[in-house]
Amino acid sequence: MTESATTGTGPATAHGLLSGLDEIAEIGRDTRRGGYSRHLWQPADRELRDWFAERAVRLGLDVETDRNGNTWAWWGPRGDDAIVVGSHLDSVPGGGAYDGPLGVVSALEAIYRLQASGFRPARPCAVLVFAEEEGSRFGIACLGSRLMTGALDADRARALVDAEGISLGAAASAAGIDPARLGEDRTALARIGLFVELHVEQGRGLIDLGSPVAVASSILAHGRWRVTFTGEGNHAGATRMTDRRDPMLAAGRSMLAVRDAAVASPGSRATIGRIEAVPGGTNVISSQVAVWLDARATEDAAARDLVTEITARVSEAAAAEGCTAVVAEESWSGAVAFDPALRDRLVRSLHGVPTLPTGAGHDAGVLSSRLPTAMIFVRNPTGISHSPEEFATLDDCLAGVTALEQVLRELL
Ligand code: GLV
Ligand code: MN
Ligand code: MN
Repeated sequence: MTESATTGTGPATAHGLLSGLDEIAEIGRDTRRGGYSRHLWQPADRELRDWFAERAVRLGLDVETDRNGNTWAWWGPRGDDAIVVGSHLDSVPGGGAYDGPLGVVSALEAIYRLQASGFRPARPCAVLVFAEEEGSRFGIACLGSRLMTGALDADRARALVDAEGISLGAAASAAGIDPARLGEDRTALARIGLFVELHVEQGRGLIDLGSPVAVASSILAHGRWRVTFTGEGNHAGATRMTDRRDPMLAAGRSMLAVRDAAVASPGSRATIGRIEAVPGGTNVISSQVAVWLDARATEDAAARDLVTEITARVSEAAAAEGCTAVVAEESWSGAVAFDPALRDRLVRSLHGVPTLPTGAGHDAGVLSSRLPTAMIFVRNPTGISHSPEEFATLDDCLAGVTALEQVLRELL
C-alpha cells in the first residue's frame, strides 16, 4: 500500500482505517432520512463496491464477484479452506456509518498491517463483502449469504420485488449478474474454511464491561412477517365514524398488542418498523394496510410461540375494527450459537476479552450452519444502531483492527 492509499500523513495504521470510512462518507447519504441509504445494486451500492475494489487492488488483492453478487478480494492465490474476513457495505434505510462498513474497512486495514509487517499467510485468505445484508431493497436480510448457502431458494429470490416493482432477477441482470446462476454456491462455500466478521456492537453490552472489543457467543432467533389488514376503503369526510372498517385502526391496535406480547415473553423483542397504506391518501380511509413484524427470541421455539401469540392478538385487533388480518412469513433465521472452538480460540488470542450475545442478525450467523464462523464486536458507546446516531470511537475502532490483525496472524 502506498502512502496515498492512506491519508498521507501520520501513522498509516490509524489513517488507513479512518480514511476508509472517510472516503465513503458521502456515498449514499440520505438527505431526507439522515444517515445512509445504501441498497443492493443501486448507485450507492455500485459506488461502494467500486471503492472496495479499488482499495483492495491497492493492497495487491485480486477482486471477483460471485454468482450471488458477493464481492471477494483475495490475498494471494485463491483456494479452498481459506480464512475469510469481512462484512457488508449496504445499510438499512437511514442507517449509520459503521454497521457493515466498519467490518470491511477493518478487514482491509488488518491485511495492510500484516503486509506491512512482512507477514506471509500460509493459507488462502480473502475479504468478503456480502450482498444486501440488511434486506432493505428486496426484504430478505442476509440475501447474499442465504443464497450462497441455499437457505434462500433461487426461484423465490428471483421473484422478489423492490418498492418500484423491479424483480430481483431483473435487477441482477442489470447489475451484470446472471439471474439463472443465483443460488447455492458450493464452490464459494468450499473456499471458506472459516469466516470472521468484525462488527460494531448493536447494543449496550460492552459499555459496562470495560473492554473495547468482545467475541460473539450467540444470535437471537429472528424473522420477518408481513401482516396485511383488509377493511373498506371510503371517504374520510362522508363516512360516519360508526360505519367504518378502517384497517389503519386494526394496525394501530395490533402494534400495541405486538408490544404487549413481547413484553410478556422475557428475552423477546418484537417491532413494527414499516407500514404501507393503500391507497395512502390523507382524505381516504384505507382499503388495506400492510405492516412488517420483526420478532426475535433466545430460542427458536420461543420466537415461534411469540409469533403464534402475536397472530392471535392481531386477528382479535382486526376483528374489533371489522377487518381481517393475514400474517405471512417472509424470512426466518434460527438462533445461532457460534462455533465454541473458534470462539474460544479468538478469546484466547485476544487475551480473554469478554463474550457477548447479540440480538442482531449477521451473515456470520447464516454461514454458521455450513462452516465455523465467529464475530468480533467493537464497543458502541451509546448502544444505538440502525440509526444515523450510530457511533464508535476511533480508539475502539483501532482496537478492533488490532484484534482482527491478531486473529488473522494466528489463523493464517
Ligand atoms: C440486521 O442488522 C438485523 O439484525 O436485522
Ligand atoms: Mn444492520
Ligand atoms: Mn450489519
